[in-house]
Amino acid sequence: MTQPISLEAALGRIEALWSPHIVSQVNDYDVRIARVAGEHVWHAHDDTDEFFLVLDGELEIALRRNGGEDAVVLPRGSVFVVPRGMEHRPSSRDGASILAFEPTGTLSVGDRHDPVPDGVDVTTGHFLL
Ligand code: NI
Repeated sequence: MTQPISLEAALGRIEALWSPHIVSQVNDYDVRIARVAGEHVWHAHDDTDEFFLVLDGELEIALRRNGGEDAVVLPRGSVFVVPRGMEHRPSSRDGASILAFEPTGTLSVGDRHDPVPDGVDVTTGHFLL
């Protein structure tokens, strides 16, 4: 990264939903952005926490914790960290743009996940060129 990156411009070049794109790397972490709408799949990352920042819209993250299931709602400008190993399912009814910060190589559907429907990208992130 030798020049500043406009997240707004970068998001404008991403067509697919739930398709994380790497805007920068910090040590061995990726800074990834994605446009999302509807539901992702339930999944868990066994070896890493997952940081979310909502850039636009509203993101909901369903969580399986404390023996039950609940959800956190993240309006624009909110941050949240899903702890490692916790099953979660991001969703956005009306659509959102998000930034995630996680170790390079982290699979977007985690290490354990429900069957992945068509249209959900199983990836460790695409580089924005
Ligand atoms: Ni995740």
